[in-house]
Amino acid sequence: MHKRSNVCAIKLGPREVAGATQLSSRREQEYIPQLFRLYDWPAHKPDVTEIMKSFYEKTPFPNYDELDSSLSLREKATRGVFARLLDEQIPFGSRVLEVGCGTGQLSNLLGMTWGRTVFAADACLNSLKLAEGFRKANQIKSVAFLQMNLFRPVFRPDTFDFVICNGVLHHTSDPFLGFQTISRLVQNGGAIVIGLYNKYSRLTTDFARLVFRVSGDRFQFLDPRLRARTPTRSGRGPGSWTNTRTRMSLSTQ
Ligand SMILES: C[S@@+](CC[C@H](N)C(=O)[O-])C[C@H]1O[C@@H](n2cnc3c(N)ncnc32)[C@H](O)[C@@H]1O
Repeated sequence: MHKRSNVCAIKLGPREVAGATQLSSRREQEYIPQLFRLYDWPAHKPDVTEIMKSFYEKTPFPNYDELDSSLSLREKATRGVFARLLDEQIPFGSRVLEVGCGTGQLSNLLGMTWGRTVFAADACLNSLKLAEGFRKANQIKSVAFLQMNLFRPVFRPDTFDFVICNGVLHHTSDPFLGFQTISRLVQNGGAIVIGLYNKYSRLTTDFARLVFRVSGDRFQFLDPRLRARTPTRSGRGPGSWTNTRTRMSLSTQ
């Protein structure tokens, strides 16, 4: 899958990889190129990279709790709309990049169909480790994971037919700049698919959160997902379990 050289050859040492947790084994490191580079934000822009990274390094999202095989991943995808439609409609031979792939469920799903080339990038190595672990365990051959900052892409412009970025840009210091940066990676005639929070469809989430907070979490049993597992965090923040997203994700809709 690396026939055409799309990744610039940048190999950073551990010290330059900001906030990265070192992988336990040499072998895993070989599989996940660590190409994350900090973006030089102007003084008037608060840089949220470290806050975001430390959150997602501790709380990789989404988790693989209910998924133990490529079959269960496919079943989960067919319960929602987003992943299923992408999987049905991205044609044979397409070159796909998922930006902010988290634990890589969507990319692993897309990579299960033969004939696509899927790259999946995230800032957080722990999420990528889970992604790569699932990929390896299920022998998914058409996807490759890498650590990358979306503001400093390591791919050449016009490389991909599809760039997908779901639930990511609103976690950055400048979503519009992020959008402009990753759009350059799509070639003419290609498509970019973006998922963002939507304040109206978050109203139920915000209401539920309010009820849980004032009731000291006594009503959490009303939420089917919270019922199914014990939350590690219920406050506002990326990836918290009361944090349903309006975007159509593999795990939601
Ligand atoms: C809410 S998760 C979404 C994960 C996945 N796209 C999904 O739909 O389930 C947001 C992800 O964006 C990643 N992210 C945030 N800022 C990023 C950046 N500047 N570069 C690369 N990834 C970033 C985080 O590490 C995290 O895994």
